[in-house]
Formats: sequence, C-alpha cells, structure tokens
Amino acid sequence: MAEAGVLRAAFAGQGPAEIVFVAQQCLESGAWDQALALCEAFEATNDPALLLCRAVATFVAGERQAALELVGRVRREQPAHLSALAVEAQMLARLGNRAGALGSLQSLLDRYPDYPGAQALLCSLVMPGPHYRAVLTELHARLKPKTYLEIGVESGATLALAQTAQIAVGVDPADVPVKHALPKSARLFREESDQFFRDHTRESVFGAHPVDLVFIDGMHRFENALSDFLHAERWASSASTIVFHDCVPLVARTAARERQSNFWVGDTWKVVLALAQYRPDLRIRTLLCAPSGLVVVRRLDPRASVLSERFLEIVSRFADLEWSHAPDALPPEFSPLPNDAGGLSDALR
Ligand SMILES: C[S@@+](CC[C@H](N)C(=O)[O-])C[C@H]1O[C@@H](n2cnc3c(N)ncnc32)[C@H](O)[C@@H]1O
Repeated sequence: MAEAGVLRAAFAGQGPAEIVFVAQQCLESGAWDQALALCEAFEATNDPALLLCRAVATFVAGERQAALELVGRVRREQPAHLSALAVEAQMLARLGNRAGALGSLQSLLDRYPDYPGAQALLCSLVMPGPHYRAVLTELHARLKPKTYLEIGVESGATLALAQTAQIAVGVDPADVPVKHALPKSARLFREESDQFFRDHTRESVFGAHPVDLVFIDGMHRFENALSDFLHAERWASSASTIVFHDCVPLVARTAARERQSNFWVGDTWKVVLALAQYRPDLRIRTLLCAPSGLVVVRRLDPRASVLSERFLEIVSRFADLEWSHAPDALPPEFSPLPNDAGGLSDALR
C-alpha cells in the first residue's frame, strides 16, 4: 500500500472532489484498503465526502464503531447531511440496529424521498418478505377467482396473474403497451374507472357472475380509490375479495396528494381510514409487502349504500388529513399482518 506521503505527492494540487472520486472508485472495485489509505492521507482536509468514504472503507474493514464515529463527525457538523444519513442508516441496518436505521432513514426521506436505495432499505426493514406481485400470485393460487377485475393495468404485470379467471377484465385509460402474457379471457377497457362503471353493468361485463377478486391499483387519489371500491363492491358477492395497492406510504412526502417524488403512493391510504369508520362491517387487513403494502378487504356487502350516499361528506372529511405516522407504526385501522403464509391466511378469513 502506498504511504501517505506518496499519495499526497501523487494528488498534489487536486481538490477533495477528485480524491473522493478516486476513493469511491476504489470502493466500487473492492479495494477498500486503498480507499482507506487515500482518505487517511488527506484526513486533514476534513471534507465531509472524504470522511464518509473513509467511514465506508473503515466499516468494510470491520471497524464498525470507528466507522460510525466518522459518520457522527459529519452529522455533528451538519445534522441533515443527506449522504451521512444514508451511510448511517445502512451501517445501523447491517448492525441490526433497526430503530436507529429507521430514524436515519426517516430524516433522509423527509428531505429527499428519492435518495437512491433509501426507500428500498426502508421497505426491507418494515416490509420484509415477498414483493406485492409474489403475494398477489399466491392470492390467485389460493382464491382461484373465476372472475377478476383490475383497475390500473399499466403494462399488464398483475392482470397476467389472473390465469384461473374465465373472465379477466382490466381498466386503464393509458394506452401503455402490454408486456406480459395476459390470460386468454382478458379484456381491456381503455377508459377511466369512473367512466367504466358508468358505461357498463356487471351483467354486460361478467354475465351472471359476481366478480370474485378485484385489484384496485388505478389513480393514487383517495376519492378515486373510494369510488373504485364502492362500485366494485356492488359487482361483488359476500364471498368476494377486494385488494387495494399503495395504501402504506411509510413516509409523508410519498403520501401527499400532489406528487413530490418519483416513488409516490398519493393519499389512497385515506380509504382505509374511511372504510374502517363508515363500514365497520368490513374485514380490513394489511399485508406488509414491498413497496407499499396490500390491503385486503373481505365480508363485502354488495347492497351497502352508505359510501355512495355519503361520498362527498367522506371525501371532504379526509381531504386535509396528512400522513403523520412513523414507518413502523401504522394506525390501528390498518390491522397490519406479517408478510408470510400465515398473514395471508389471516387476511383471507
Ligand atoms: C401503478 S399502475 C398499475 C400497475 C399494475 N397494476 C401493476 O401492478 O403492475 C397505475 C395505473 O393506473 C392507471 N390509472 C390512472 N388513473 C386511472 C383511472 N382513473 N382509472 C383507471 N386506471 C387509472 C394509470 O394509467 C396506470 O397505468
């Protein structure tokens, strides 16, 4: 390994940005000892990015406490330093300090919800287990729906799961090319869901059959999700299942009505609170699967009318509510379940 004096001579006249760039290249190629030597040769510069590179190299070298102390030096100077928060969260997660990692991630995502990898790390801590599409695959295997309705199809990844359905229907106004092998029975309606429910009757779409399984994954707005639910429930039977996507936002910035981030679930989460309050007869359970949960609603009542009768009241009542929950403290109305086979069985009771 080159000595500090040799390194300082080689990089003479170059600023911290160049040194950080090379140190990061060393880290990416696995040469953490070289990165460490480089960072230590220039430790006098006290540059935050250089300190963080050194912290990562030190962590990889197995000096966990020393690494955290280096990150702490950056955070003491700049408590909201984004990269310091990200590095700290990763280190704490790897050390099994879940609460600490969640705290750092929440501070990071409150400022910059699209920080690379941060949402994924948060999901892995709060929603371990299979991804929502794997959970939906298992849901189809268990329920074997003969009739299936999906609001929000995009490229067809989830409509393709309805392989047991004799009639599978997707509704989406966007003409996105379908990239997945849809069931032979699949029919696509290129219109908004409100228009779809205005234009069609259950009989004209599903014949004499109620719809066995509905997946609501369309517009990420509370009133759309509520409207989709109340229409879909009328087409269902008491044995059917309605599943919502995108109701577990984890951080406030991704849960806002107006989109502020690439990863965005909007305010669909309000539908869970509204259903719990106005329809206590429903059984609502939330499977904590990445990236934004699945809410499973059972014990449906196709004759229920309270949601349509009081629609405007319900929408205005929840309109100004903001998400204010810690990532691992969902409101009780969600009835969260573990993301495993037992959780799914419970959700389907
Ligand atoms: C997140 S994507 C659906 C993804 C798909 N279900 C999956 O899991 O792969 C949401 C889709 O909802 C559609 N959408 C937006 N507004 C809608 C509306 N009012 N009615 C139906 N679909 C809508 C969008 O065009 C978009 O393709």
